[in-house]
Amino acid sequence: MGTKLTWFGHSAFQIETGEHTVLIDPFISGNPVATVSPDELAADFILLTHGHGDHIGDTVDIAKRTGATVVGNFEVANWISAQGVENTSSPNTGGTASFDFGSVYLTLAFHSSSMPDGSYGGSPNGMVITLNSGLKIFHAGDTALFSDMQLIGEMGLDVAIIPIGDFFTMGPDESVRAIQWLKPRYVLPCHYNTFPPIAQDAAQWANAVSAKTLSSAIVLDPGGTHEF
Ligand code: NI
Ligand code: MN
Repeated sequence: MGTKLTWFGHSAFQIETGEHTVLIDPFISGNPVATVSPDELAADFILLTHGHGDHIGDTVDIAKRTGATVVGNFEVANWISAQGVENTSSPNTGGTASFDFGSVYLTLAFHSSSMPDGSYGGSPNGMVITLNSGLKIFHAGDTALFSDMQLIGEMGLDVAIIPIGDFFTMGPDESVRAIQWLKPRYVLPCHYNTFPPIAQDAAQWANAVSAKTLSSAIVLDPGGTHEF
């Protein structure tokens, strides 16, 4: 059976793999382009790249309702735990945590990280998610372009999810350089068209990806799914 990847807009994704559902950065109720309600989402695991509100989103409510295990760096996971969420896992940058569905390796990300109440959120991360099927998915989180993306590319990525919105993160031009370094088979854009400062033309971006990289661009609409 394949792996289904669904985008909810912004950086929020769902991975359905085997019998597990994994959410990443589930910013749904405050997300103007989301097509679902947080109440209808299933989750066994919720992965968080950093502490900003547009990534923590509805994590606490979804985790309390579903019993999902929330995975994020030490400060993020401890903050989530302090909100009354029962199951958390708190690795840190450079570490790997293993679960029933596969493993999560926390990479560098160049950004900032504070929790929704202003408390310290530790270092922001990207995540290399290796599913039991072998499929390797990199979610870059919020980040600037950085040349150590070459090291992440050496891990052999099947899928990369990278921000292209500019303003808060790298923009479309820098993301093309990132793709040249990450060398994924497939690449999906995120963190764009949610709010006016991060409006981008995804079709134009996809043309640049096919002209300048060896990766195949997959542009979903919010609510859209691709099966790998
Ligand atoms: Ni952020
Ligand atoms: Mn963000």
